[in-house]
Amino acid sequence: MSLLRALLAFVLLNTQGAAAYGFRNCIQSESNPGYFKCMQRFINSISSAVDDLPRNATVINASLNSIKSLSYGSFRHLPELKILHLSKNGMESIEAGAFENLLGLENLNLSCNLLTNLSRDVFRGLANLTLLLLNNNHLSTIHWDTMNPLQNLLELDLQFNSLGSFKEIVGSLQRLERLRWLNMCNNNLSSLKTELSLPVSLSSLFLCNNSLKGMDTDGPHFLKNVKVLDLSFNKISNVSSFATVSLQNLSDLQLKGNDLDIFQLLDVSDLQPHCLDYSGLQLNKSSQLIKMCQYLQRSNRSLHHLLLQRNNIRKLSSNLFPACPPIQILDLSRNRLRSVGCVSEILNATMQNQLRTLIVEHNLLNDLRYCSNNSRLEQLAHISFRFNRILSVRSYAFQYAPNLQTLHLNINTIAYLDKKALRGLRHLVELRLDNNLLTDIYTENFDDLSSLRTLNFRNNHISVLFPGVFKKLGSLHILDLGGNNIHRLTNGSFEGLQNLQNLYLDGNHIENIHYSMFSAVERTLKVLDLRGNKIQYISMKQEHPPPFLNLHQVYDLKLQGQQPYGLKIIPPRFFKGLNSLRSLYLSENKILSMAPDVFDDLVQLEYLSMTDSSNGMVNLPPGIFKNLRNLTSLNLENAGIHTLTQEVFGNLTRLRYLQLGKNELQIVNISVLENLTSLRFLDLRKCPLSCTCDNTEFQKWLNNSQVQIVYLYNYTCNAGQHPSYVYSFDTHVCYQDVGFYLFLATFPTLLLQLLLPFLYHRTYWQLKYHFYILRAWVSNHWRRGKDEHYKFDAFVSYNSTDESWVLEHLVPELEKGGNPLFRLCLHHRDFQPGKYIIDNIVDGIHNSRHTICIISRRYLQSEWCSMEIQLASYRLFDELKDVLIPIFLEAIPERELSAYHRMRKVMLKKTYIAWPPDPEAQCLFWAKLRMALKAGNSKKEEEEMTYWFAENDNPVLESAGKMEQEEGN
Ligand SMILES: *[C@@H]1O[C@H](CO)[C@@H](O)[C@H](O)[C@H]1NC(C)=O
Ligand SMILES: *[C@@H]1O[C@H](CO)[C@@H](O)[C@H](O)[C@H]1NC(C)=O
Ligand SMILES: *[C@@H]1O[C@H](CO)[C@@H](O)[C@H](O)[C@H]1NC(C)=O
Repeated sequence: MSLLRALLAFVLLNTQGAAAYGFRNCIQSESNPGYFKCMQRFINSISSAVDDLPRNATVINASLNSIKSLSYGSFRHLPELKILHLSKNGMESIEAGAFENLLGLENLNLSCNLLTNLSRDVFRGLANLTLLLLNNNHLSTIHWDTMNPLQNLLELDLQFNSLGSFKEIVGSLQRLERLRWLNMCNNNLSSLKTELSLPVSLSSLFLCNNSLKGMDTDGPHFLKNVKVLDLSFNKISNVSSFATVSLQNLSDLQLKGNDLDIFQLLDVSDLQPHCLDYSGLQLNKSSQLIKMCQYLQRSNRSLHHLLLQRNNIRKLSSNLFPACPPIQILDLSRNRLRSVGCVSEILNATMQNQLRTLIVEHNLLNDLRYCSNNSRLEQLAHISFRFNRILSVRSYAFQYAPNLQTLHLNINTIAYLDKKALRGLRHLVELRLDNNLLTDIYTENFDDLSSLRTLNFRNNHISVLFPGVFKKLGSLHILDLGGNNIHRLTNGSFEGLQNLQNLYLDGNHIENIHYSMFSAVERTLKVLDLRGNKIQYISMKQEHPPPFLNLHQVYDLKLQGQQPYGLKIIPPRFFKGLNSLRSLYLSENKILSMAPDVFDDLVQLEYLSMTDSSNGMVNLPPGIFKNLRNLTSLNLENAGIHTLTQEVFGNLTRLRYLQLGKNELQIVNISVLENLTSLRFLDLRKCPLSCTCDNTEFQKWLNNSQVQIVYLYNYTCNAGQHPSYVYSFDTHVCYQDVGFYLFLATFPTLLLQLLLPFLYHRTYWQLKYHFYILRAWVSNHWRRGKDEHYKFDAFVSYNSTDESWVLEHLVPELEKGGNPLFRLCLHHRDFQPGKYIIDNIVDGIHNSRHTICIISRRYLQSEWCSMEIQLASYRLFDELKDVLIPIFLEAIPERELSAYHRMRKVMLKKTYIAWPPDPEAQCLFWAKLRMALKAGNSKKEEEEMTYWFAENDNPVLESAGKMEQEEGN
């Protein structure tokens, strides 16, 4: 039967036929179907990540797992792969040929693993690889031939390993004719000695953080093709070695962190002074800086940038730079400057015509003030004073830079911004004051900033926006006020911001919003961020007019995470007016209820996120999404949803991406999913899906859909101790109804088939016998009612062995021997030839008044005789006539008789006549027999027989049991 049910289930499940869709450990990117993310899945074998990916996968990121080793041909089934990330896996070994068949692979990231060596053939076949990342491993050597297959390699990262032999590495790179970028920083190199040359193509060589002591290369032309060389943080003090190698083709040399005399180096080598990065060379004395400028002057060309980071410079004085050639970018970051003093004075004359960018980050600047000097740095367009300790910015602090375009004062401790601090900056486009300690801002602060497009005050302590404070900022596009202490907005808060497009008010303490607050910006505003404020509603009543009523241009609205308990209630028509809205963020708002019509106006909405909004609302109101005909992405992770209903999800015909993870879904309603005709991505992670018959349809759908189900093969059911999987749980029991009917239809046949051989074997004769009995009964009934007119006086039932007695004694005595004469029915004589024997017997018995049984041992053993007795006694039950006259030819003891219990039964009830061997007694025998034959059925006999009949309802079948009881007595 189980076979049958399995067959049935197979048929039911396979009628639609299609491929399953979903990957055990990877997520296919929605925007790039060739891209598979398999990170942080605790995978310890690469096959469990990639085995089920399609052949045309192009990018796989399996970083952050525990794949300890890669075996031969791990990616053979992915010939189209272009990018493979395997970093942070604790990988220890890679077998030869592991990347076989990846002929098109371009990027391979093996960084941050535990690789100690690479065998010769690991990279076999990677002829198209252009980028190889092996940084942050434990490599100490690389085999001479390992890199040879990488004919097209452009960039090789070997940082943070334990490589000690430069010679060996250069040897392994000999065949890489296109290599242009090699990073060997942070290894154990102590010498650059090698008889071999670098690949001709190599132009960038990074050797920082090793133990190099000098330029101990072989031959003066070793670096002739190298443009960028990083030797920082080594132990180079031997300057004379730089004389042995030509550096004149270098365009960028890094030497910071070495203890060497840079001017001596410039003297002995052919390095061009402007190609050196002067950072980190302890150039902190004025004399050194002046000397540097003199060297630079020798190049006799204008300088694009001068980098002077990390030189411990404490003070800038006006005599420092006059000797320098014109410079466009000056970077003084990571020094110890407390003041930039009179910048214009310091960077005067020659420099001032050219300087465009001044960077003084990570210093100790604490005060920016006006300099009475009248000179201007007319070209200066960009200033960055980030990461300092600036407390105050005084009036006219940037008077010297009238053409300034960007000013970065962020990440300081500015508490005081003078109302006139930014005076004169008529060309300023971007002002960053974020991450300071400002509490108040005034209209006057912005008096001259009519060109400003971006203003950032994020993370200050501003608590009040005075009416009209921004009214001079008519060009402003982006205003960032996030992370302040603003409690309320007024109608004048944004006055004059006639071009404002992006307004960030997140992380404040705003409690109420009203459409009038946004009236100044309603024609232009496109992005509004109100997340993390204190907006909340406690009643559904329509007392609140829709707050975004006139923001018809806004396409992105963020309202997530209202403090402390979320929006709670979203009143009716809350989003009215947002006709252009495309993205709406409502996550992290413990929503207790929302009006069913809130989203009705959002006909353009494409993205809606309501994650982490559980706690309260159990299911979404019916019809809530009814107008969202353009919605393509819906994120409802952890939204407390219990059921999927047509009323809620019915109209989302454009929906492609549905995130339902971490909900209370146990049963997935298939009709809902089937109505989402555009669905391509469904996430049901961490839902307590049940493996019951209610999900049978869902299982079927899972196995037939065109939708990617995130980690489909990992969904387990909440079914006790034996974990089973939603995609494969046993649904056979669910087909029981059908099965039951099939069972009913087939079981009897099967049973019969099973039993027949058994019955045939064991009870052939019994069956046959009962069959005859049945026939006799039928024919007897048919006969009933006929006039009782007997052809014979007695039917003689005997065994053929006793025929001689019948013919010699019985027939002569009864048919011829004297009065009265009887007519006997003998089968050899009176049976109709050609008639079926059983019918002859039945006829014989019924056409005779009596049946004489001639009983001997042989007789008892004979089936026919037994039947004849039975048929005769049948008349007893049917006609209430005892027709049986038993004659014993030999004495048969009771115990032998017991084997023939039917006979015994008859014997017990009837008197019988025994054939005496003694001829004298035979007279009596014949007399008795004639008496019996003559006798009709007396009343007394009838009564006796009735009693017997009553006691033996079914003597044929029950007698056996009764006999045994009797025997036991
Ligand atoms: C990959 O192949 C499948 C069919 O085998 C196709 O449906 C799919 O669009 C292909 N994906 C890419 C990225 O080519
Ligand atoms: C290898 O790169 C070349 C040039 O980009 C390209 O034409 C070729 O198809 C690539 N080979 C494979 C197997 O992708
Ligand atoms: C710039 O420096 C030179 C000396 O190199 C000096 O003569 C000149 O006065 C300075 N200019 C200003 C504006 O300070």
